[in-house]
Amino acid sequence: MSKQFPDGFMWGGAIAANQVEGGWNQGGKGLSVADMATFKRNVDVKEFSKHMAITSEFIEAASQDESDADYPKRRGIDFYHRYKEDLALFAEMGFKTLRLSIAWSRIFPTGEEAEPNEEGLQFYENVFKEMKRLNLEPIVTLSHYEMPLALSVKYNGWVDRSVVDSFVKFSEVCFHRYKDYVKYWLTFNEIDSIHRHPFTTAGIVADKSVAGEEKQDIYQALHHQFVASAMVTKSCHEIIAGSQVGCMITKLTTYPLTPKPEDVEATLKKNLENYFYSDVQVFGEYPKLILKQLEKEDIHIQMAADDKAILKENTVDFVSFSYYMSMTESTDPNADRTPGNTVIGVKNPYLPATDWGWQIDPKGLKISLIELYDRYKKPLIIVENGMGAKDIVEDGKIHDPYRVKYFKEHFEQMWEAIEEGVELFGYTSWGPIDLVSAGTSQMSKRYGFIYIDQDDEGNGSLDRIKKDSFYWYQGVIQSNSID
Ligand code: BG6
Repeated sequence: MSKQFPDGFMWGGAIAANQVEGGWNQGGKGLSVADMATFKRNVDVKEFSKHMAITSEFIEAASQDESDADYPKRRGIDFYHRYKEDLALFAEMGFKTLRLSIAWSRIFPTGEEAEPNEEGLQFYENVFKEMKRLNLEPIVTLSHYEMPLALSVKYNGWVDRSVVDSFVKFSEVCFHRYKDYVKYWLTFNEIDSIHRHPFTTAGIVADKSVAGEEKQDIYQALHHQFVASAMVTKSCHEIIAGSQVGCMITKLTTYPLTPKPEDVEATLKKNLENYFYSDVQVFGEYPKLILKQLEKEDIHIQMAADDKAILKENTVDFVSFSYYMSMTESTDPNADRTPGNTVIGVKNPYLPATDWGWQIDPKGLKISLIELYDRYKKPLIIVENGMGAKDIVEDGKIHDPYRVKYFKEHFEQMWEAIEEGVELFGYTSWGPIDLVSAGTSQMSKRYGFIYIDQDDEGNGSLDRIKKDSFYWYQGVIQSNSID
């Protein structure tokens, strides 16, 4: 049977401002939390928490540091200046869509200015104009790990309610300015990641919380993000006719290591927790079992009078998610462990893994699609998927059959899910052009169809080189099939 995708399927790629743009101190941009991330030469890449740990003392020193030598996210891949070349390459691959984010601190450098920064607004307008010319439909993330640093320092990030107002103001400015260009919006990238890296996701610095209250602060910040997400969903619908707003979660589908009922129960709990974030944004209310669990843990979320109504009345139009791996759960404390996307979990003996230990599980993508569609009955889009790998340049060429294999196996599972009735309307691979890793700030962890000549230390010409996989993905999009 021919493995054809539905007409109009939105094939493309996904990037985030802080991982590609560079120009960290240009165009009136303020510092963001991403500008604090350093490349840690002597830490094992599998120890993610050491890469993402942050203190107030460190932030103070890093804010004074005017160099980008140790801060790869300040450099990115120079998309800020080379966006036309990059968009042209995406168009050449046949992309229908590109997911990208707007760096909040380009628009409001400290998050609290009375007026937005025109230079920042103009930059994205130029990008969207060029995308329109190339027929690339934008999917825009409003918050992708890049909030203004000043809000983190002043308020301990999203822990303080006033950040909600700043975010709503920023979002509304974007909706008004880009309403002729952007129809698809995502509010928070991987909103669930707040537990895994509170600073990167929500500007929370552990030493700013009262000792013992760190978890309480995380849930409070998360609640503020839920409310802000619902508020801007409402504004978006009002300001942009026909707009579509989605939530975005990390899909960490979890299997039991054995059929032992205790393992199955532990897995069930893990999956309920995984669903919590999208449940709030799709159903418009906190799941009862989660509320009970919070009560048991003595966590009390302060909710303003209207919050419940705001959540209920402004649910999302579609569900988007990243999928890199599945997870495994076991009650055996001695079970083998392996790192994943900023998590460490039980090793699944049936799965191979990347050099970073992330387990490769194409079937898990189909399982995730079926689970999500069955639960929410909303259109789905995969907005991140891919394999971080080391590439070798030989005679100016990059042969990457491992990447093609990874994608082909995942696309087959997407196709099967669609055949079985799942409403999947698009797919954007993560980092279609090599970019700076979110977790480890490496360049050498490459996801792209397009190679960037830049190493972990920032050396290189920044030339763009098409890998073999570039032509393969181009073929998939052109034929809209994986035959
Ligand atoms: C996702 C993030 O969790 O994973 C991206 O949304 C990130 O920003 C991607 O880049 C891959 O993770 P990493 O650490 O390999 O860059």
